[in-house]
Formats: sequence, structure tokens, C-alpha cells
Amino acid sequence: MGVALREGAVVGRFQLDRLLGEGGMGEVWAARELETGEPRAVKFLKGSSSSDERRRRFLREARAAMTLRHPNVVTIHGVEDGEQPFMVMDLLAGETMRAHLERNPRLSLRAALTLMMPVIAAVGAAHAHAIVHRDLKPENVFLSPREDGAVEVRVLDFGVAKFAASLSTPALTESGDRLGTPRYMSPEQARGARGVDHRADLWSIGLMLYEMLSGRHPIAGDSVQAIFRAITFDPIAPLEVDVPADVREVVMKMLSRDPAQRPRDLREVVAVLAAHHDSTAPVFDAPAVAEHRASRPSVSTVDETIDRTVGGRSDGRRVLLVAVAIAATIAATTCAVVRRGASSAPRTSASPTGSEGTP
Ligand SMILES: Nc1ncnc2c1ncn2[C@@H]1O[C@H](COP(=O)(O)OP(=O)(O)OP(=O)(O)O)[C@@H](O)[C@H]1O
Ligand SMILES: [Mg+2]
Repeated sequence: MGVALREGAVVGRFQLDRLLGEGGMGEVWAARELETGEPRAVKFLKGSSSSDERRRRFLREARAAMTLRHPNVVTIHGVEDGEQPFMVMDLLAGETMRAHLERNPRLSLRAALTLMMPVIAAVGAAHAHAIVHRDLKPENVFLSPREDGAVEVRVLDFGVAKFAASLSTPALTESGDRLGTPRYMSPEQARGARGVDHRADLWSIGLMLYEMLSGRHPIAGDSVQAIFRAITFDPIAPLEVDVPADVREVVMKMLSRDPAQRPRDLREVVAVLAAHHDSTAPVFDAPAVAEHRASRPSVSTVDETIDRTVGGRSDGRRVLLVAVAIAATIAATTCAVVRRGASSAPRTSASPTGSEGTP
């Protein structure tokens, strides 16, 4: 089962120094490349003993993410196959945006945009290359202070969420608690829709902005089923903070359950936010289309989503979760159909819209 991950262990070309952190998908270690002495961060993925097909998919997705070179995306140097597939990144100094928000839960518009414009720049550029993050959250944004007092912002884990879903479920979720709550997951992901596109990232970015500006997260719930219900059909409280109306509006528009009702892409978001911030507005192309499949949420895909979130349990709680998710799916689908009938957003060729959001 490969080398045990501990201080001093040698894995491939790397010697592990210390554990930096552990998330739902794996462990991140500070390491040193043996030949060059170069410091690196190495992320090992759980569930690595999965089938060849899954392993191939993991490698394919990780390599796609590697092609993304952007000043606000952590550089990935390589992906190594083997008994323990891992990815090699720049070793960053600083802290995650989550740690920053724990100390400063509510930010001014200026401070929020200073942190979020680089995130939007990175994610917008990724969308232009048909790469969707799918797991944006403060834990996946890293802040490195510079000597001049500015902060470098880098998005982590591009592509990881997609291949994580393809890895074997039990290993991924052996500790449901460690996965944390799926509070940044878009409604279409919570429903297990196929062909989730760039608009899922707009939802997550909207949530992050809402949380920073108000000091509270709009998706409440202290259990996984309550969170799934909140994502799929509880009303989202309006953002009542003292910021310009167009900022509030664009944040709430990003939090539309129906992806077709969200801003078409991040360029539309930048057009509003840049007017309220003194940094140079990021410029990127329209999203490129990777997948374009209509699909219907099904019981089995909702089931898989829950598996990934709480673990492959076969007790009563799991049955209850599945029932809640199915009910939420039916309710959300019904709402979407009704809303869609009432107001249908125009679509243009600049808006690659998979139609999974409104089955
Ligand atoms: N390139 C890096 N340089 C320095 N520290 C890093 C790097 N990448 C990740 N980390 C640290 O490792 C921790 C664990 O990251 P990981 O991505 O495994 O967890 P997570 O983001 O909390 O959960 P998830 O598995 O959902 O992504 C992060 O919180 C971060 O502090
Ligand atoms: Mg992460």
C-alpha cells in the first residue's frame, strides 16, 4: 500500500518534512526534492488504490489543471502516478483565507475585493480554458503576505474536486467529519446533476463574497441534511449590508438556484465590482465549453453525492439522508421548472450553458 506518510519518509523524488494540513481529499506535506533541494508542497490523495479507470481519470484531470498557469493559481509542477498518486506544487508561506476570516469575519468592501478580485481573475481565466474549479471555498484560497505589506492570493485545488469525485468513495470519506460541511457546494452539485459548468463556481464566489461582507454564511445548518436542504431550497436571506446596491444585487444574482439566472460569466461580475475597487480589473475571455450535456438529477447521483459527503454508511442515518436529498431534489426540480416557465433568461453564444440546471 505504498510508503507510510510520515516525517523523513522518501516518496518518489521527495523527502517529506512536515504535515501541513489534511482535508477531505488527502494530506498536504511540506517536502524537499531530493536532487535539487527545492522545497515543494506535495498533496497525496486518498482513495488512491482505486481502479485503473479512476486512476487514469485522476491523472487526466490533474494534468489538465497543470496547464493552468496564472499568477493567482498555485503552480503545479507535476503529477506522479504510482501506488500513491500525488501532485507537486509550490510550497506557499502564509495562511488560508479561512484562517484569515476566522480572525476577521466581516470585511469592508475594499478588503473583501482586495482578496476576491484575484480569485475572480484566476477562476475567470480557468473558465476561459474550460476548467471549472467546483470546490471554491476559503480553505482553498491561500494568502501569502509580501514584504511591502500587500498580500498574494492563490487559488488551490483546481481540478481536484472533479477527480476526487472519481476516486473510490469509502477511502475518500472514511471520516465524514474531516470533510467538513459542503456549505459552498452549488445547488446543481448538491442535486448530483451531470455536466456541472462554470456557473457552479459563480455560486461559490457569491457565497464567499456574501460571507465576507456580512460576517455570516447564508447556508445555515448543523447537519449535512440541513445543509443540503438549505442549498437546494431554503430561501437565502438578502444581503443587508452597507455596500452599493449594484454589489448587493450581483452577489444575490450569483446566488440564484437556477444557474441560468446567475450572471452569465465572471466578466459580468467584474464589470460591477471593478467600479468599486482601485485595482486593475482582471481581463479574461468568455468561458470555453468543455461539457454540454443535459441531464436529470437521479436518485443514484444524489446518493453518490451523499456518499462523498458523509461516507458510505449503511445505517438509518444514511437512509434518512438519501430520503432528504431525494425530497430536496424533487422540490428543487419543481421550483426550477416553475420559475423557468415564469422567466427564461436569454442565452447567447458567449454563455456556454449546459442545460442541467433546469431539467
Ligand atoms: N501549496 C501549498 N503550500 C502550503 N500549504 C498548503 C498548500 N496546499 C495546501 N496547503 C495547506 O494544506 C491544508 C490542507 O489542504 P487540503 O486541500 O488537503 O484541505 P482542504 O482544502 O481543507 O480540504 P479539501 O480536501 O476539501 O481541499 C490547507 O489548509 C493548507 O493550509
Ligand atoms: Mg484544499
